[in-house]
Amino acid sequence: MNYALARRALFLLPAETAHAATLRALDAYAALARTPAVAAASPRRIFGLDFPNPVGLAAGLDKNADHVDALGALGFGFIEVGTVTPRPQQGNPHPRLFRLPRHRALINRMGFNNKGVDYAVERLRRRRRFAGIVGVNLGKNRDTPLERAIEDYGYGLEQAYGVADYVTINLSSPNTPGLRTLQTGEAFDGLLSGLGERRDRLAETHGRRMPLLIKIAPDLEGAELGGIAAAVRRHGVDGVIATNTTADHSAVAASRHGDETGGLSGAPLTERANGVLGTLASRLEGAVPLIGCGGIMCGADVAERSTAGASLIQLYTGLIYRGPALVQEAVAALEHQSPGT
Ligand code: FNR
Repeated sequence: MNYALARRALFLLPAETAHAATLRALDAYAALARTPAVAAASPRRIFGLDFPNPVGLAAGLDKNADHVDALGALGFGFIEVGTVTPRPQQGNPHPRLFRLPRHRALINRMGFNNKGVDYAVERLRRRRRFAGIVGVNLGKNRDTPLERAIEDYGYGLEQAYGVADYVTINLSSPNTPGLRTLQTGEAFDGLLSGLGERRDRLAETHGRRMPLLIKIAPDLEGAELGGIAAAVRRHGVDGVIATNTTADHSAVAASRHGDETGGLSGAPLTERANGVLGTLASRLEGAVPLIGCGGIMCGADVAERSTAGASLIQLYTGLIYRGPALVQEAVAALEHQSPGT
């Protein structure tokens, strides 16, 4: 169906209802479709993994890994499921997801609603058709004290090790109080060191070293990004996803829903996310691959992110506004570019 038409109908529903309805429809469509699950255009080997193409689905759309095969049929080279936490949790009260169509943006304060890491792992064990790369994005439960966050991430890492191609440590959701403080200083260093050791132990048991990524916020200053780059190199982190949603709503302040609490994503984030990625790329000097995420709404945004230093890119809000055509447009934009050029 024409996505513009479908979108008109979907946008009449509350945002979270539309989201669930779309995923159900995709499941039904994928069950019937005979198309190859992955467009194998421009394959890339990054973090030792073979990506059929460099365009991924960002975390948060398929929190529980319930729709990997259906989403894979849209042509993604990789899908990141989660955020999942050790114990299931409800997330914040509704409404918690808002559309700002004039800005091609969303504000969400979902609060890591998920069925728990064990559920997602079981779902991934049963996946059948998607032949691309699958990452698992890990968080901490809201009621786990920040000082014990490492236990939650460690549990997730252990559970996901057997089924995930890579794992992302999410330190950047604005909707879990205090989480973003783990991105800097001693807390960050301690976390990376502890999780790195745990990963090395698991690598011996499993006979495979699973890439460990971190996902950062777009609201970090130059000095903080310098600290992150140094720590990432020191601790052998395999990749950085830049960025999550922004807590700065100034770009949408005058609009309906612009003052809702939560993380802002989509077009108002493009420039900021691009800037953070570029700063990080210059600090890392190619030592660690970067995944560009945040406000990628068209092929030109993809090309720009690649020029700024992204080896891979991820989409979320662009998919809500542009539909599945954006996936192919993004793949095409990268087809003739080598990583980071
Ligand atoms: C997100 N995002 C997100 N990120 C994450 O690491 N874990 C999560 O659970 C979620 N959940 C989530 C829910 C909703 C409704 C949205 C809109 C976003 C952030 C997402 O992965 C991405 O980093 C940002 O949205 C920026 O990219 P886009 O949306 O501008 O392409």
